[in-house]
Amino acid sequence: MRDEQITAALLDWYDRHARVMPWRVGPGERRAGVRPDPYAVWLSEVMLQQTTVAAVRDYFRRFTARWPTVGDLAAAEDGDVMGEWAGLGYYARARNLLKCARVVAGEHGGRFPDSRAELLKLPGIGPYTASAVAAIAFDRPETVLDGNVERVISRLRLVETPLPAAKPELTDLAGELTPVERPGDYAQAVMDLGATICTPKSPACGICPWREPCLARAAGVQADLPRKAPK
Ligand code: ADE
Repeated sequence: MRDEQITAALLDWYDRHARVMPWRVGPGERRAGVRPDPYAVWLSEVMLQQTTVAAVRDYFRRFTARWPTVGDLAAAEDGDVMGEWAGLGYYARARNLLKCARVVAGEHGGRFPDSRAELLKLPGIGPYTASAVAAIAFDRPETVLDGNVERVISRLRLVETPLPAAKPELTDLAGELTPVERPGDYAQAVMDLGATICTPKSPACGICPWREPCLARAAGVQADLPRKAPK
């Protein structure tokens, strides 16, 4: 299969099976060209670092109900934001969240910058979040690499190098597959695939949109990848 066919198969799967999340736009809206709100994408990505989708849902709903825009969040009292964050853990994220909201409101007129390079300059936005927001909110062809994506790509391309040494190779391989059309949907599709089908144990290869091109499956080693360097 050519790379474009591999990408198309995943996007087709995503159109039918994308997980419903409060920060995503639905399939009908996607077809109509509706983009998600950058504030919602940024907030969800910060919350999802080190935290599961299930745990984040209600926090995300409460935050956006109380502070519907980045300007509202920027104007919030620190204590109120820390209070709403209570229970999510990793509290530096909440402090950086407020710092970032205040820079976006104060220096960018309440609009998130639309490129990875500009997003990276904001407080608390690292390489992962910058790529995720640029791809998902602004449809920039940036490559998003989290643990799910590392696992999916190491299997698809049969990368035997153990993590973390394999990261540069996985970044390259993931980048080669990132399409110029619909890169935001593509980024979320790979994450969904890793979360629901290409799981760490007993991946559901029988229903995987990448079962044909997957080199690990052909070699029968899918459940052994990615390899990890001994600690
Ligand atoms: N994990 C982190 N960000 C995600 C997203 N946008 N979609 C699915 N899983 C995610």
